[in-house]
This record gives sequence, C-alpha cells and structure tokens, in this order.
Amino acid sequence: MRWTTEQLATFKRDGVLFVEGLFSPQEVTRLNDELPRVLARKGPENLTERSSNSIRSAIAPHHSSELFRRLSRHPRIIEPAAQCLGGPVYLHQFKINTKNAHDGEIWHWHQDYRTWFEDDGMPEPNVINAALFLDDVTEFNGPTMFVPGTHKLGMIPSDKNFNRIPEYGRLAEDAVGSPYSNETIDRLVKKHGLLAPKGPAGSVVFFHGCTLHGSAPNMSPWDRTIVFWSPNRTDNKITAPTRPNFLALQDFDAVEALADDCLLMA
Ligand code: SIN
Ligand code: MN
Repeated sequence: MRWTTEQLATFKRDGVLFVEGLFSPQEVTRLNDELPRVLARKGPENLTERSSNSIRSAIAPHHSSELFRRLSRHPRIIEPAAQCLGGPVYLHQFKINTKNAHDGEIWHWHQDYRTWFEDDGMPEPNVINAALFLDDVTEFNGPTMFVPGTHKLGMIPSDKNFNRIPEYGRLAEDAVGSPYSNETIDRLVKKHGLLAPKGPAGSVVFFHGCTLHGSAPNMSPWDRTIVFWSPNRTDNKITAPTRPNFLALQDFDAVEALADDCLLMA
C-alpha cells in the first residue's frame, strides 16, 4: 500500500498524517485479544506507570508474540514508511503504550529524534513513526497532540537546565520530563497550532521523528492503547546504542512486508 500524492504532500507540510480506519475491526479485535498475554510478561520490557502498577509501555511485543511479530511487518505501515523515507526500512523501536483509564500518565513534550540521536547515535533526523489505535481515541482519553510543521525545525535545542540522567530500563522519552521550557512550547504552539488526531480503533497517525508531540494523562474511564512503530532507513542505522536492544532495536535488516491479510491468517 502506498500513500497518494495528496497524503505525501500533507505529511511533508505537517509532519503528521492521519489515516482513519486503516485496520479493520476484525484485525483490531485479534490484536486486542492477544494484548493481555503481552501485558502479562514479566521482565524489563514491560514498564509500569510511576504512581501505579498499571502498564505504561510494553516494549518489543514482536519478540514474544507471533501476532505482534506479523503486525511489526505489516505492509500498510512498512510500505508507506519506505515510500516516505525513500528507501528500505528496519524498525528502530516497536512498542505498545496502554495509557490506561484513570491512571495513564503524561507524556511530556518531546521530539523522538532527540533521544535517538543522543542515546542511540542515529545519524540523521530522517525517520518516522506510525501509531495504530487499538481503542477509540477521543478528546477524553489523552490523545497524542502534535505541533504541525515542527519536523522542519530539525532537532530543537533544549532551552532549560535539562540535566539528562537517563534511566535506562525506562523509555528515555519519559524519564526526565520535557527538555523544553513552557516559553518555548508557548511560542511553538502559538505559531504552528496543534493537531490531536482522534478516531475509531484501527486508525493510524504517521508522524515524523522531529514532530514535537506529547499527551495529557488519561483521567477518563476509557483505555487508550496505541501501538507505535519507528521505521528508520537501513542506511541511517544507529551507531552508538547505549540502551538495551529491546528499546533500541538492533536488527538492521530491511523489513520485508508480509501479506496484507497477515493478521487474519491462522
Ligand atoms: C510517545 O511519544 O512515545 C508516546 C505518546 C503517547 O503515547 O501519547
Ligand atoms: Mn514520542
């Protein structure tokens, strides 16, 4: 599956592209049926929230689940990622953020590429993400917010005393808060505006590795589970990983996309 010229132009302009209903209800049901097994894993790949035992992120679910292994290679993600980046891709990260009802916590404003450059030695900011909703995402359950156009700014320098003490074992993105002062966020949001794509389970948001984003806590009664892929071009592979290889994946072979119905096969 390839993006249309119009979709490519939207992504180029905003650094964000929303595709509603890219996966069917039947496919979403299969993934949701598999989810409890992944969330029950004991080990460092499943991270809890700071204030509860709720799972925050389940990293690298494709290492322990055949269905998520197939999802990680899905053509509706891998093919447009290669089209958009202009060459074959491998996965730098693959994870599930659950953001559970009532106790799903904040994701501070950040650019993914900043972490990937600093912690993993990714050479170029030429990398994207895809985010598949496994629940309906509404204004109530903590949708991810994006500052459109910020992908064109490259890596935005921190303007605060941002003493980065990475807690390897956690996602670096949420370990130390935002690298940006409120003044910087005010300036960027007032200039560029905000997007918060919302839609039914099965929808996908594609976003650039430099698009500034974050999300508010989930104080609603509805979970907000989202699967994130981070496809990176094989000639932009990381050069200095400092994190475990479930957080900074190190299988640099180009992903060969599976068949379109791979999630529905026995
Ligand atoms: C992330 O940026 O990794 C997560 C954002 C979210 O789950 O809203
Ligand atoms: Mn992020």
